[in-house]
Amino acid sequence: MTFRLPPYPYDRLAGLAEVAAAHEGGMVDCSIGTPYDPPPPAVVAALGSSGTERGYPASAGSLALREAAGAWLCRRFGLDDVPVSRLAACVGTKEFVASVPHLLRLRRPELDTVLYPAVSYPTYAMGAELAGCRAVAVPPPPGRAGGLDLGAVAPEDAARALVLWSNSPSNPTGGLGDLGSEAAWGRAHGIPVFSDECYAEFTWDGPPRSVLQHGFDGVVAVHSLSKRSNLAGVRVGFYAGDAELVEFLRAVRQHAGLMVPGPAQAAGVEALEDESHVEAQRARYLDRLEYLAGILGAYGCPVGLPEGGFYLWVPVPTGRWPDAWAMAGALAADGGLLVSPGDLYGAAGAGHVRVAVVQPLERLALVGERLGRVSHG
Ligand SMILES: Cc1ncc(COP(=O)(O)O)c(C=O)c1O
Repeated sequence: MTFRLPPYPYDRLAGLAEVAAAHEGGMVDCSIGTPYDPPPPAVVAALGSSGTERGYPASAGSLALREAAGAWLCRRFGLDDVPVSRLAACVGTKEFVASVPHLLRLRRPELDTVLYPAVSYPTYAMGAELAGCRAVAVPPPPGRAGGLDLGAVAPEDAARALVLWSNSPSNPTGGLGDLGSEAAWGRAHGIPVFSDECYAEFTWDGPPRSVLQHGFDGVVAVHSLSKRSNLAGVRVGFYAGDAELVEFLRAVRQHAGLMVPGPAQAAGVEALEDESHVEAQRARYLDRLEYLAGILGAYGCPVGLPEGGFYLWVPVPTGRWPDAWAMAGALAADGGLLVSPGDLYGAAGAGHVRVAVVQPLERLALVGERLGRVSHG
């Protein structure tokens, strides 16, 4: 059967964007988790001064980048040591997430299943499809927004699994998972656990967590500078963990020609060595989460603050709208606010919309004024 791509999730928002953009003052786009705030000037300066343009960059990442990433993991998560041999660079993490099943299948061709969180970043399931694998959704534990109810995985699916994806804090729900139990379950079943930790810096409920705090065997933590340092346009990520998995992926990716450009690697080193810009960004997101939750509550759409991440995961109020698309339509029409209906993150997300608090407070205040003018009796 010929492979047929689904529509790109965010392309489905074009009609809503048109409605939101009709407002005087324009659309306030909170649909995509793309950073709006600037990276630190020293990081931007490093892009133009590394002198790395002429030669090919190291596919695994320069020694400086790998050392900076390892030192950051140790600092942030209280790890003793992350040897550079257990860590390698990726070109941002989306390409890594999308290609892991395909690459792992080279190692274990008899396996054909990707386990991933039922309500999640769409690329986990897309990576399975691109590899010709089955994408099997794992629900969160009952009553939880994040994490994985691993007791719900059928033994037949576990027996065929190439990888288990975890994402804590979760995009889109903001929930946190139990990374220790996930690592233990993966080891018990011989299934590699890949833990996408790109929102770890924005953990509100306690300190940031990494699967690596529970040992390196059988696990790979995946990190990105896109959200941490507002560098989504520069494309720097890295993965670290199990010696054999990291070395296998590093080697195949080198053959495939995957390389973070040298100037981007130099900027990554600069970003990883600084914490103050991350501190400032954390404060901005927390302010905006609280502010927007207040506005939405006043508009009759109460929402709690997430345990992590920079998204509000807003339930569709019962009886007010038939579904999340209708709610997103009302927010576009009444507030000029563009949000993402929750089914973009899996069928189980259909009762919510996701609001990314990536816009500055003055733009969110405009939404507040507009929604405040609408009666919702
Ligand atoms: C959960 C999750 N993982 C990975 C990514 C990819 O980020 P990047 O490719 O910029 O590293 C995103 C981006 O939104 C995300 O939300």
